[in-house]
Amino acid sequence: MRLDVVSIFPEYLAPLDLSLIGRARRDGLLALHVHDLREFTSDRHRTVDDSPFGGGAGMVMKPEPWAAALDHVVSDGAGPDAAVPHLLVPGPGGVPFTQAMAHRLAAEPWLAFACGRYEGIDERVYEHAAARMPVTVVSLGDYVLNGGEVAVLAMVEAVARLLPGVVGNAASLVEESHEGGLLEYPVYTRPASWADGDTVRDVPPVLLSGDHGAIARWRHDERVARTAARRPDLVAVAATVGGLDDLEVT
Ligand code: ADE
Repeated sequence: MRLDVVSIFPEYLAPLDLSLIGRARRDGLLALHVHDLREFTSDRHRTVDDSPFGGGAGMVMKPEPWAAALDHVVSDGAGPDAAVPHLLVPGPGGVPFTQAMAHRLAAEPWLAFACGRYEGIDERVYEHAAARMPVTVVSLGDYVLNGGEVAVLAMVEAVARLLPGVVGNAASLVEESHEGGLLEYPVYTRPASWADGDTVRDVPPVLLSGDHGAIARWRHDERVARTAARRPDLVAVAATVGGLDDLEVT
């Protein structure tokens, strides 16, 4: 998979050199290209923003550097099949980023990310981009970040770990939170009985029983209970898509 990121803070993407994503890049599973938006300015001050027409607080990102940067990404990555990337623009006004979207994006060969800052990017940039490639504005959640970079780190990690070979143990992807529409069950490791100061904290006995059917039932019940307590909105969804039944062990 090829990934392009355009930002005025390319250093923000440095963590993508670390851990599983860094290894996936070194293994050739991921090709990441980070572009500095200021490289696509043409004035001495490398200006990327200006005041908003109509007034109001803050600054708006200018269209010309964005158009030049996105055109560069498209031409830089164009192969013989003349493919274009799917452009993702992180922003609080976007469609919610979900595990289902991560799966859909993981099936695409080429994603590009445009990191906005300030009050946003001039709306005509979206028109320029949409005339050349699919464009989706994506939100991480109902809160406001200072820019798209942190959202890109999260989205790239969520997508890349679904690519074959990125996470060593593929089975660990199956039963985690949001797969099957439920949150993950609680996990424990040694010691089975932990003296935490004056308090003894024991692992639930069923996990030590060796009864795999009982363990699977307990884990399913924990997923349902945890989801109901923390994310009641997901229980209704899981019921309609069958997530509550899929994991039933008889
Ligand atoms: N940029 C600013 N806020 C954001 C959010 N909630 N999600 C994605 N990108 C953002």
